[in-house]
Amino acid sequence: MSVTESPFQADTCPELKEVEATIRMSLQTQSSGLQEMIVHLLQAGGKKLRPLLVLLCAGLSGGEMYSIKRVELLRVAAAVEMIHTASLVHDDIIDGAASRRGRETLHFRWDTKKAVLAGDFLLARAFDLLCGLEQKGSLLPLFARSVALMCQGEIRQLAGNYCWETSEKNYFHFNYLKTAQFLASCCEAGATVMKAGEGEIKNLRRYGFYLGQAFQIVDDILDYTADPVKLGKPVGKDLRQGTVTLPLIYLLRVDHRYRHLLRAASTRRPALAAHLQEQVDRAVRASGALQYASRRAARAGEAAINALQRFPPTRSRQLLKQIAEAIAGRVAFVKGQQ
Ligand code: IPE
Ligand code: IPE
Ligand code: MG
Ligand code: MG
Repeated sequence: MSVTESPFQADTCPELKEVEATIRMSLQTQSSGLQEMIVHLLQAGGKKLRPLLVLLCAGLSGGEMYSIKRVELLRVAAAVEMIHTASLVHDDIIDGAASRRGRETLHFRWDTKKAVLAGDFLLARAFDLLCGLEQKGSLLPLFARSVALMCQGEIRQLAGNYCWETSEKNYFHFNYLKTAQFLASCCEAGATVMKAGEGEIKNLRRYGFYLGQAFQIVDDILDYTADPVKLGKPVGKDLRQGTVTLPLIYLLRVDHRYRHLLRAASTRRPALAAHLQEQVDRAVRASGALQYASRRAARAGEAAINALQRFPPTRSRQLLKQIAEAIAGRVAFVKGQQ
């Protein structure tokens, strides 16, 4: 299976088609320049994990209310996918990435100025969708805060590039700011639309947090291991630009030689010299770092599943469990290699 296809949605959630239609409608504009970029983005797809979380968490806490709240839920699901897509458009500018979801990135195909504006447009329309909801009093501040945290995560990660002393604690903090907290907010939003109680929301946030933690660790492993064509985006970019993720932290902890080697090269911005990158990349693979990171992802996936225990054993719960398993499954191939 290509990783650009969703490992999560296959016949599990027919509403995703309607979410896509809601996104298309919300992004209509008279500006042909903007519309062209939007069409380019919409044709690419993506795994649609975040809208799925909104819908399944609503299904889990909503019961019979689900059909009454369906239209609201589709809007929230569309809004979170638009916020996420905006963050990717901007993230690709920051990372200088030429491909995303198997296609050229906006800034690569058009230019950076237009891509910045397209990202802003996506964000504005996403918040516009949220403004029309009965629960806007909760959802607007929830996502305003979540987007602000994501920005802080990206800024802090940038500031931390080439800091070879980055600790695991630091890594998990970036992981939270960039990814885990947003997935937790998607889960909370689905439950909020259903007017779920505080305890349920807390458990669903917990699920989303651990799921997001696992998801980002897996993404960081795939940056070392994946085929860029299958992944739909460049690989090796974290190490190349000095971004210290869990596999590299492990290597630098178990083998201090690489810390010295990288320290000596730390002034060679903005990219690591190719020979050094190759050497460190090989060491990461040989050190067991990928296995270590995949164990941490599996552990986070289990914590996510545990957070679902108090909910009745419905189909939504089963699907949320399967999503956690599918995330760990994306890197199952690294497990037996140690
Ligand atoms: C990419 O997210 C950014 C990360 C948080 C790792 P996804 O892997 O969910 O991207 P799409 O939406 O499927 O393209
Ligand atoms: C996720 O981190 C970025 C956002 C949450 C926007 P990455 O930088 O690892 O995402 P990819 O690898 O470019 O998709
Ligand atoms: Mg990136
Ligand atoms: Mg990545």
